[in-house]
Amino acid sequence: MRVLVTGGAGFIGSHIVDALIARGDYVSVLDNLSSGRLENIDPRVNLYHGDIRDEQLVRETMRSEQPDFVIHQAAQMDVRASLNDPALDAAVNILGTINLLEACCTYEVKKIVYASSSAVYGNPAYLPVDEKHPVQPLSGYGISKHTVEHYLAVYRELHGLNFTALRYANVYGPRQDASGEGGVVAIFTDLLLRGKGPRIHGDGGQTRDFICVQDVARANLAAMETKDSGIYNVSTGVPTTVNQLFETLRGIIGCATEPLYSSPRERDIRHSYLDPGAAADGINWRAALDLSEGLRQTVPRVY
Ligand SMILES: NC(=O)c1ccc[n+]([C@@H]2O[C@H](COP(=O)([O-])OP(=O)(O)OC[C@H]3O[C@@H](n4cnc5c(N)ncnc54)[C@H](O)[C@@H]3O)[C@@H](O)[C@H]2O)c1
Repeated sequence: MRVLVTGGAGFIGSHIVDALIARGDYVSVLDNLSSGRLENIDPRVNLYHGDIRDEQLVRETMRSEQPDFVIHQAAQMDVRASLNDPALDAAVNILGTINLLEACCTYEVKKIVYASSSAVYGNPAYLPVDEKHPVQPLSGYGISKHTVEHYLAVYRELHGLNFTALRYANVYGPRQDASGEGGVVAIFTDLLLRGKGPRIHGDGGQTRDFICVQDVARANLAAMETKDSGIYNVSTGVPTTVNQLFETLRGIIGCATEPLYSSPRERDIRHSYLDPGAAADGINWRAALDLSEGLRQTVPRVY
């Protein structure tokens, strides 16, 4: 199989690339390296260094590669940046994706697998959040991720382009960036390994659904196997408090560092976890790693 992975130099994309190569697929990557790193990419990959906003480059990449499948991970994924500069967020996440969708139609791609997000749901009205839950994003990022789901449905309808959109919960694992707005697991791990206490906003009782990146990569491969188009949560369905996460990490690292509690963040969602049941039926995928197993695989590889 020939597969093009956009954002394949990034945290999640690079694990998808590894999983594809491990099963013998031919893989190319389109990435502007804005947050991705060259060292994340397997040397067997054909790398196109460029931006999905560049329509010409996207077309040329697709013409050269003629992929059977496109796995679309490239995105502006900083929620705060999407509030400060919504136009940039929309340009990358919406217009960049449209470039890709157009080229997918021209070069008769069998299916596009798209990285959506639990950010589309906004504040949960009930838990666990399933795919029928109302969509009410709280940020430009959530809006742009959801807008693309609409485009996917329209391209399916008008041009017969199959798609699977995967709404990831909170992804963690090796290669996650601990700087900036990076994931809480990477930030906590980085600080604990340096003997520093991480900051916990609020009382630490807020819950999230932490899913290991290897499971997310498997979900992408599973989505390639089904012809049907659809939208699925990619999650464990297990709520974990930030305090539990901290305790588990501290146990694995083996330190006695205490966290620093500070005032809750404005607009922070209190409880969020997603029902993964539909993915079990629709793409034959379930999370395989529980939190402590996933963290054990993550911690030694942070550096
Ligand atoms: N990490 C999470 O918890 C999470 C949760 C939900 C959804 N997602 C989605 O998963 C996808 C991958 O996220 P990630 O955590 O691996 O982030 P990441 O920043 O590590 O990866 C994104 C990759 O896309 C590349 N990229 C960014 N803008 C680009 C552009 N304009 N043109 C070409 N390449 C570009 C970056 O260089 C990077 O390699 C994103 O679409 C994100 O929205 C991630």
